[in-house]
Amino acid sequence: MAGGGTLLSGCNLSKQFKGLLAVSGVDIDIRRGEIVGLIGPNGAGKSTTFNLLSGFLPPTTGQLTIAGIDMTGATPERISAQGLVRTFQHGSYMPSMTVEDNVLIGALGGTRSGRVPRAEQADVIRQAIALFGLTEQRRQVAKNLPHGLQRLLSMAIAFAARPTLICYDEPLTGLNQTEVAVTLQVYRRLKSEFGMSILLVEHNMRAVMAICDRIYVLHHGEIIFTGAPEEVKASEVVLKAYLGEAHGL
Ligand SMILES: Nc1ncnc2c1ncn2[C@@H]1O[C@H](COP(=O)(O)OP(=O)(O)OP(=O)(O)O)[C@@H](O)[C@H]1O
Ligand SMILES: [Mg+2]
Repeated sequence: MAGGGTLLSGCNLSKQFKGLLAVSGVDIDIRRGEIVGLIGPNGAGKSTTFNLLSGFLPPTTGQLTIAGIDMTGATPERISAQGLVRTFQHGSYMPSMTVEDNVLIGALGGTRSGRVPRAEQADVIRQAIALFGLTEQRRQVAKNLPHGLQRLLSMAIAFAARPTLICYDEPLTGLNQTEVAVTLQVYRRLKSEFGMSILLVEHNMRAVMAICDRIYVLHHGEIIFTGAPEEVKASEVVLKAYLGEAHGL
């Protein structure tokens, strides 16, 4: 694996919501420069797991380590300072600000490791905007962009913080085929040129299988399978979990 070494490690993570155990005993590791998928049927606990890893929810049980430092119960701010940034399932940008200003905010909220000196900020912003194909729209107000470009903007904002790990919650929803292809190409560059790791929660199975080095499969809050895309596709356990579900593997 490019870079090697464990970047993030979640151990025995659980989350109880009143009577519901939404996530149960989840072990998850992400190595440096690795693209990891987290898949599972609707309500499997993917977003909850995401919230546990990014500090938006404290775990009921378990431990979270990032870059060798115990981050269990840490705030999202502390976790992002440690190098992890995330996007939200329903978009993460300021609707009434321009593309440029949104990306600037991403850069200002930069991670400790990636914080860019003021003199280089303009370059980082330009690079993030270009990487996600938003150069022509850079002075447009975010709410006026087509849906696909708003999605790309959320990703550009996260990139501008120069994280070591980007967590994307269903980033491809509503993108057309061309936009999906562009996005996957950008992910490959984030990995190969910038050495970033990616955690990808996504229902688009074709995309997940094409881009991920390794995939975790969640079902009813538990990891039921981990493996390379080919192994996931061939798994009886995974197939069973998806039977009767709308997303064909
Ligand atoms: N804040 C909350 N309070 C109570 N229950 C919750 C909360 N958040 C999630 N849940 C429940 O936890 C379970 C897992 O939800 P989660 O959103 O993590 O699933 P998901 O895999 O992301 O689903 P989807 O594919 O629909 O996005 C669901 O039954 C959901 O209703
Ligand atoms: Mg979700």
